[in-house]
Amino acid sequence: MNDLRRNIFVIFIAAIASTGGLLFGFDTGVISGAIPFLEQDFSLTEGQIENITAFGLIGAVGGAIFGGRISDLVGRKKVIIVSAIVFATGAFWSGAAPNFIQLLLARLYLGVAIGVSSFAVPLYIAEISPTRIRGTLVSLFQFMITIGILVSYISDSAIADNSNISSWRPMFYIGVIPAIILFIGAIFLPETPRWLINKGRTIEGRSILAKIEDQANLNSVFHNLLNETDSNNNNQNWGILFKKWLRSPLIIAIGIMFFQQFVGINTVIYYSPKIFLKAGFLGNEAAIFASISVGVINVLLTIVSILIIDRIGRRKLFFIGMTGIITSLILMGVAFLSSEVFNQNTKWLLVVSMLSYVGFFALSLGPLGWLIISEVFPLKIRGLGASIGSLSNWGFNTLVAWSFFKLIRTFGDAEVFWLFALIGIIGTIWGYFYIPETKGISLEAIEDHWKNNKTVRKLGQAD
Ligand code: BGC
Repeated sequence: MNDLRRNIFVIFIAAIASTGGLLFGFDTGVISGAIPFLEQDFSLTEGQIENITAFGLIGAVGGAIFGGRISDLVGRKKVIIVSAIVFATGAFWSGAAPNFIQLLLARLYLGVAIGVSSFAVPLYIAEISPTRIRGTLVSLFQFMITIGILVSYISDSAIADNSNISSWRPMFYIGVIPAIILFIGAIFLPETPRWLINKGRTIEGRSILAKIEDQANLNSVFHNLLNETDSNNNNQNWGILFKKWLRSPLIIAIGIMFFQQFVGINTVIYYSPKIFLKAGFLGNEAAIFASISVGVINVLLTIVSILIIDRIGRRKLFFIGMTGIITSLILMGVAFLSSEVFNQNTKWLLVVSMLSYVGFFALSLGPLGWLIISEVFPLKIRGLGASIGSLSNWGFNTLVAWSFFKLIRTFGDAEVFWLFALIGIIGTIWGYFYIPETKGISLEAIEDHWKNNKTVRKLGQAD
């Protein structure tokens, strides 16, 4: 195969796998439009509504905890296929749920698929990608998350029919379609060469590697993989994660997800309509304007990120993104503070700063979180490690979503956004020490770097 055909082949595989991202985005986003109808249909209290969201998040945490180990044992592909089945049946069950309890259970069940796919898909893509374009390909996952969120906003607003309180049902049913696409696509996906070689299926692994890796790197990547397989055959348990040489990847994975969530992204993704209403925009119009504009900016800036991530590298992107996120958060706070009742100017300051906040997130922390957790762990425990990153993501996400309104009631709007900005500043300092520059470095070289007990900042630098 020549380079062009090889590239088309991997892009095609990565695109199919990243349908898992679309489901992640869709199934987390769909709930916002369904809530008003559910409230009426099942006569739910605010607490019950919160439980519906919380059960999905708890399911995701569970999926992330158990899925990682399973994907190291049975392979990445099988785990993705099973998650597609859970996505399809879970979406159907959610839409058909006859009562509140069943809906809770359906969301919990669907949450498991979200948790599993959120680490298995980026991991799968990282392991089938040639080093040179790994960042771009894994970021396709984030791109599909943002598409999923946008599609859910658009489909919710198209389906919403005030004269029909069952409108929430078709909103959930729509999720069956991408799940079936992922299921059919995943059957035809190859298993990753890295997982195969690690399991001793060397010939099979090498032939897939030859279809994806650049000719110039093929032999060295293959030999490195064989060496890794020989050198650490026994340690595959949770215990290995606490070994000293793995401290850096562990801190990196948990840390990047901490800052990704604690700069408050999902307060905007989940609650932007509420924020816009506060700023004085009126009714449904505001809600639609808010969610669609947030969704579109999120998609567009993710595309920019995909195009530049393997050229400018992870660290630069992180610092550029963080600077923009912090500035936007400070301005959002100013917009809230400068006027008790919003006037025309502060109203637009809020809109512009909120969109720039989402844009800078989409450019940096969004894709970087999922990319970095799929790159930094050694092969033997890459599934487990990535699942810890994903677990952290869902755990922190739950905490922020759960505390946001309580914090606002206690401290006020401006103060909460400034708190997020402060966390961003701490994150930037943390990032100086812990964001790894993995651009152009093979997964095996990253693994060697930890084994030699070198610091994170030295990665990618000549000795
Ligand atoms: C985050 C999600 C967030 C999404 C927004 C993802 O990287 O993990 O929590 O909702 O980006 O695009």
